[in-house]
Amino acid sequence: MPSVLVVGAQWGDEGKGKIVDIYAGRADAVVRFQGGNNAGHTLVVGGEKIVLHLIPSGILHGAAVCCIGNGVVVDPEVLLAEIQGLRDRGRWPSDDCLLVSESAHVILPCHRALDQAREARAGDRKIGTTGRGIGPCYEDKAARRGIRVGDLLHPGTLAAQVASLLDEKNALLRHLGAEPFDPAEITDGLLAAGERLRPYVADVAGRVHAWLAAGRNVLFEGAQGTLLDLDHGTYPFVTSSNTVAGAACPGVGVAPSDLEAVVGITKAYVTRVGEGPFPTELHDDTGRRLAERGAEFGATTGRPRRCGWLDLVALRTACRVNGCTGLAVTKLDVLQGLPEIRVATAYRLDGATVDRVPARAEDLARCEPVYETLPGWDEDISAVRDLADLPAAARGFLDRVAGATGCPVVLASVGPGREETIEVAAPFGRRRSGPRQDG
Ligand code: IMP
Repeated sequence: MPSVLVVGAQWGDEGKGKIVDIYAGRADAVVRFQGGNNAGHTLVVGGEKIVLHLIPSGILHGAAVCCIGNGVVVDPEVLLAEIQGLRDRGRWPSDDCLLVSESAHVILPCHRALDQAREARAGDRKIGTTGRGIGPCYEDKAARRGIRVGDLLHPGTLAAQVASLLDEKNALLRHLGAEPFDPAEITDGLLAAGERLRPYVADVAGRVHAWLAAGRNVLFEGAQGTLLDLDHGTYPFVTSSNTVAGAACPGVGVAPSDLEAVVGITKAYVTRVGEGPFPTELHDDTGRRLAERGAEFGATTGRPRRCGWLDLVALRTACRVNGCTGLAVTKLDVLQGLPEIRVATAYRLDGATVDRVPARAEDLARCEPVYETLPGWDEDISAVRDLADLPAAARGFLDRVAGATGCPVVLASVGPGREETIEVAAPFGRRRSGPRQDG
């Protein structure tokens, strides 16, 4: 079972794109299983900055087949623009390198309009969505009236599907003061997009089963993060899909026993975009320093990210929910130069000590972090490639993370470049030495 799953262990933006990009170099296939173009992966390859929203970041390696599983919601315009963008930059390997599940649901312009109109009306009750239509598309999927990628290849039935969907959506849009859509125009656009996507439409589940059976390396790529999970995140300030590792099963059509290793990605601190509780958020110079050094602006919306100290309570919860077998700690270099580093080891809520993330966002918002202070370091660590060469304080920080979560650190990222990485244990079963576990 040579499969590795990469999952965000915080509120998204943990740097999954870079880790997937590294692991994809050894994978035969990279498979996305949830979310849509609300995700944004920024990759720096050979000094060139590339942002991907929908296509798995493995595309830049060329050798791996990139798959968009049935659990993903696909905006055809965005997907086609992303393919074209990679072609224009000479980074499109071949048409064989992308497969899109025929069962993935399609984001329509009315989903985007609805997302934006609702957020505009919500005032201070808004979620802070990316405005990409993700929630409304998943709503239609659950309501069994969604349009799927395979439907775009069937002109005989698509018009009726669109008309029935828009009948309801247009009424809703008018009610919210937004413009309705013309069913014929939308159908024509979808059919044209379907023709252009036809070469990529495939039975992704069948292909993944065949690869796994043949012992090929399959990398499952999660989007967003555990605390944005529809069930296990800080509801309602979450995204509209399950983002946890287990979501790969329905999102691709594989079994839990097909998932061999689960690598949770965490920053060395925490960021969050959009609304919602964030116990360790910093509103001071340290927070601003993290934002500046970490270039913390959303890859999808350009919004500034909220920054705070590493929250080991949330990380422990994420490791448990996902069954993480290893952690990749990103942006370790951003902590350089801080005289001391804090990590939250517990919360105080109504006079009691809490060691897990409360289910209610209102309760989490009232939690006060209990901090432990660790020594900082001044040395530039961006050239370090071996754990043993890190300053003692940086190694101690990684040991503390491993000790608090019970999860070994398998990788630490010390800069945005592909090569600015300390790999402690390789994915796909080729293990090297790991850091101390007791912290
Ligand atoms: P939606 O997914 O656009 O509906 O947004 C819901 C919430 O999830 C908002 O707080 C977004 O900022 C957040 N979100 C969605 N995708 C990402 C992501 O890829 N990284 C970080 N936050 C995200």
